[in-house]
Amino acid sequence: MAARTIDALLADGVRGRRVFLRADLNVPLKDGTVGDDTRIRATLPTLRRLLDAGARVLVASHLGRPKGKPDPKYSLAPVAARLGELLGRPVAFTPECVGPEAEAAAAKLRDGDALLLENLRFHAEEEKNEPGFAAALARLADVYVNDAFGTAHRAHASTAGIVPLVARAAAGDLLRGELEQLRRVLEPERPFLCLLGGAKVSDKLAVIEAMAQRADVVGVGGAMAYTFLRAQGKPVGKSLVEPERETDARRVLAAAQAAGHPLLLPVDHVVAQELAAGAPERVVKEIPDGWLGVDIGPETAARFAAEAARARTIFWNGPMGVFEIDAFAKGTEAVARAVAASGAHSVVGGGDSLAAVNKLGLGARISHLSTGGGASLEFVEGRELPGVAALERAR
Ligand code: 3PG
Ligand code: MG
Repeated sequence: MAARTIDALLADGVRGRRVFLRADLNVPLKDGTVGDDTRIRATLPTLRRLLDAGARVLVASHLGRPKGKPDPKYSLAPVAARLGELLGRPVAFTPECVGPEAEAAAAKLRDGDALLLENLRFHAEEEKNEPGFAAALARLADVYVNDAFGTAHRAHASTAGIVPLVARAAAGDLLRGELEQLRRVLEPERPFLCLLGGAKVSDKLAVIEAMAQRADVVGVGGAMAYTFLRAQGKPVGKSLVEPERETDARRVLAAAQAAGHPLLLPVDHVVAQELAAGAPERVVKEIPDGWLGVDIGPETAARFAAEAARARTIFWNGPMGVFEIDAFAKGTEAVARAVAASGAHSVVGGGDSLAAVNKLGLGARISHLSTGGGASLEFVEGRELPGVAALERAR
C-alpha cells in the first residue's frame, strides 16, 4: 500500500492537532551556526502546509552521531534559529525531545505554531528503535509526518518504531518527491548510466554489485577504483586501497562481466606524490611506485561524459577524486558538467557530488538533487527503506 500523503491529512483537517514532523535537519555546522541549509529549506514546504492549516507542529531530527548522550557540539539550537529565519516566524527550541519538558512545551503550542525538539540521538534508544522511547515520542502528538528522506534507510524510533503508535501517519512532500524521482531510477528509461565515486569501496560494494545488474553502464571513480584496479593486478602505487576487500572486488568485477556490463574503471589518473595541495602531480595511464591516485584522468572523464551524453537516465553518487583540493577536483567537475549537459533524467545524491554541482552553479540543470546520500543509494540498490516501509504499513 502507498503511504498516506499530506493531502490526505489536510483533507481530514489538522487544525489544533499536534503533529510530530520527523525531518532530516542533519546539516553541517560551522562555528556554532548552520553552514549549508539545503536540508532545512527542503522540508519547508511540508512544514508551511501543516502550519498554514493550523497544525501545532513539533519538528524532530538528529544531528551528527553524538553516541547516545547529550553533547553540546551536536545541539540543534542553531538549526532552530535558521529554521525560524527561513520560515519568517520564530521557532521555539526545546532542549529535550521526550519527557515532561517536551510534553509541557508541546502543550503550550497554539494553532500554527512550530517548535524544534533537541537532537533525538542524545538518547541511545533512538538508534536502537527502543519501544519505550518510541512510545515517549508518540505521546507528544497524535499525527506523525515523516519528511526525513535522508534518514529513511535507518530503522530508528523516530522513523520506524513510532509509526504504529500514532493515530495517523503520512509522508511529507519532500519524502514523497524524493521517492517519485528515485522510482524513475529504479525503473529507468535506457540507456541507464550509474556513476559511483567516493573513497571507501566497502561502503559501495553492495550498490556497485546491484547496479552492475540494473544499469547499462556503471562507471567507477574515486579512491575506491584503486581497490578494483589492484584486484585486476594493476599497479596502484601508494593509492588508498582496502586490501581486505580485494576478493569482493574481484567477485563484483566478474559478476558485472557476466551480466554483460563490465565496470568502467579509470583508464588514466591524476597522481600526486602527497595528498596535499601544491604537491607535484601528473597524468598517467599506470600509477607509478611512490605516487598515489587523486583523481580520474581526462581520458576517463571524457569516457564518462560520452556515456552521460547518450544516457536517458543517470544516477550519480560520490566524487571522482580528492575533491576538497582544487587541483584534484577536475574529474568530479567534468562529471558534474557532463551530467548537467545530458538530456537524461538525472539524479545526484551524496554531499560531495552535490557540493560539486552547486559550486559550478549547475543545480538547475540536474533533474533531481537528492537530500539523502546513503538513503538514495539503498533505494536504487532495490532495498526497502525502513522509514518508508513503516509508513506504507501505517494506519
Ligand atoms: C545522513 O546525513 O547521512 C543522514 O542524516 C543520516 O545520518 P546517519 O548516516 O548518521 O544515520
Ligand atoms: Mg549517512
